[in-house]
Amino acid sequence: MNKVNATLKRVRELARPDRVFDFMVPQESPVDTRHGPILYLEDVSVSFDGFKAINNLNLTIDDGELRCIIGPNGAGKTTMMDIITGKTRPDSGQAWFGSRHNLLSLSEPEIARLGIGRKFQKPTVFEALSVFENLELAMAGDKRVWATFTARLNSESRGRIDEVLDTIGLAQEYRRPAGVLSHGQKQWLEIGMLLMQRPRLLLVDEPVAGMTEQEMQRTAELLTRLAGQQSVVVVEHDMGFVRSIARTVTVLHQGSVLAEGSMDEVSNDPKVVEVYLGAPQEEMA
Ligand SMILES: Nc1ncnc2c1ncn2[C@@H]1O[C@H](COP(=O)(O)OP(=O)(O)OP(=O)(O)O)[C@@H](O)[C@H]1O
Ligand SMILES: [Mg+2]
Repeated sequence: MNKVNATLKRVRELARPDRVFDFMVPQESPVDTRHGPILYLEDVSVSFDGFKAINNLNLTIDDGELRCIIGPNGAGKTTMMDIITGKTRPDSGQAWFGSRHNLLSLSEPEIARLGIGRKFQKPTVFEALSVFENLELAMAGDKRVWATFTARLNSESRGRIDEVLDTIGLAQEYRRPAGVLSHGQKQWLEIGMLLMQRPRLLLVDEPVAGMTEQEMQRTAELLTRLAGQQSVVVVEHDMGFVRSIARTVTVLHQGSVLAEGSMDEVSNDPKVVEVYLGAPQEEMA
């Protein structure tokens, strides 16, 4: 309880009256997908100390699509997400969010505000705060707006939190400190925190690592439900999980697309089989 009080105290210190209603400021210009994909990468390359981690990568994701990305360790999957979110700048190529936003000219926070949410592998929820408070904080977008704590929630915001609690299946847990949740529940809470900002594109890196079978199943349902409302790109090694949600699968290898198609198409592709030959059997089950 002391921990909660300390956190709340810190939150109040950080609160600034001029930012109380930041979350109500209209979003930047909407992402335009009327004439094309929501994400467009063309000939993207990046080297680290002479090693080409991403090598002429071409990828398009349609609005509302659920895309799975697979590939051996070191294939460049996480680096690709780093490029999309502005964490890493490519040496060459193009990256567009809709037809109007050049991702390579935007900073990491600008990209996040435009509507690209990223879920890292490890959950990063505020353990001392309740599930509800975590979502409340996340509504503000970046962590600037701790100030929502000092503002009374309007009914629209409360409605959004309730909606997200339902979506992530944590409506019963809303009062509980995030620290006592199971690993799977923390992962869903973090996805919920991203959803509070109504992203257009969600990037999810290895969501089911460490989850129980049942949690995996619920995660599959959650991600499948989210697609359609937003585009979802899932990187995952667990092939059983990928098979359970897959529509289009992209196989990355040495920084480029090796194959793309349905799960059956890519898993029967001789090039893909060859790349995975050294991998444990379950990886290509
Ligand atoms: N900041 C960096 N500095 C140097 N090398 C890097 C950096 N980021 C990634 N790499 C290298 O780029 C390659 C691609 O790494 P990346 O993490 O994107 O692979 P991955 O497909 O996500 O692998 P995994 O499945 O193991 O997560 C690796 O060889 C990695 O060591
Ligand atoms: Mg990775």
